[in-house]
Amino acid sequence: MSGALLGKVVLVTGAGGGIGAPVARHLGAAGADVAVGELAADRAEKVAAEIVAAGGSAIAVAGDVSMEADVTAMFDAAVDRFGRIDGVVHLATFTGNGPLLEFPLDRFDQIVAVNLRGALLVGRTAARHMIARRAGGSLVLFSSVTSLYGAPGQAIYGMTKAGLQGLIKSMAIEWAPHRIRVNGLSPTTTDTPLAKAWLDSDPTLRDTIASSVPLGRLAEPEDFFGTLELLLGDGAGFITGQTIFVDGGVSVTHPLIKR
Ligand SMILES: NC(=O)c1ccc[n+]([C@@H]2O[C@H](COP(=O)([O-])OP(=O)(O)OC[C@H]3O[C@@H](n4cnc5c(N)ncnc54)[C@H](O)[C@@H]3O)[C@@H](O)[C@H]2O)c1
Repeated sequence: MSGALLGKVVLVTGAGGGIGAPVARHLGAAGADVAVGELAADRAEKVAAEIVAAGGSAIAVAGDVSMEADVTAMFDAAVDRFGRIDGVVHLATFTGNGPLLEFPLDRFDQIVAVNLRGALLVGRTAARHMIARRAGGSLVLFSSVTSLYGAPGQAIYGMTKAGLQGLIKSMAIEWAPHRIRVNGLSPTTTDTPLAKAWLDSDPTLRDTIASSVPLGRLAEPEDFFGTLELLLGDGAGFITGQTIFVDGGVSVTHPLIKR
């Protein structure tokens, strides 16, 4: 255990996912008490059990982040068990990709519900607990480099990730008087179930993407650990409203420059 987050209580959403599970396990190994949030209870319980088996402290808190009652219950369960919430890592997301001309409107509503209403519900439920305790806190919400670009088939997902960065700024300003910091973390392509169907659609795609990343590879979940420790920890006490791109340089590459 590194102990970098010893004494912090952190709720992670999407904690059964390709990035979320390693992140939740890492936070546990860094000494945090982890509330493992995931849609399916069995996946939440599996990750919570892994954290405990490794010597950490965790509880499973299953629920749908787009449903207010579920989000309330997830935070209540975490507070009942650990006494408070110091931090949140919000990863739960729904991509639902498809071309705009045929895009089903019910899928549009579902993506917005999970990615934006979910972020609002998770953010403000956490903030209400933090405000009641008067000890501040730190929220980190996962956006994406897709927020910056037009991307065929990913328009609605990208739109919600761009919207999330706007929401982060206003949450940061509204809750700053309560010493609640709100920041974003934007990954580039990471080989998880979220990106798998796309990455598997062409056997050369992984190499093509890696060669377009200035640092020369796809992201790994481990690439996000240091930024999360920083943002959740007290060392980032004056950073709020920012979205940090952990993307190997993708977001700052001139589009006409070929590597
Ligand atoms: N993988 C990538 O290439 C990539 C790139 C950029 C950004 N991101 C972002 O990183 C974060 C994590 O992505 P990932 O690759 O781990 O994705 P993932 O699909 O592996 O995991 C997402 C998790 O969210 C959960 N989830 C979905 N809907 C939910 C809901 N309504 N309520 C609660 N949980 C729900 C899923 O069950 C899943 O476990 C996401 O916010 C994603 O947008 C990922």
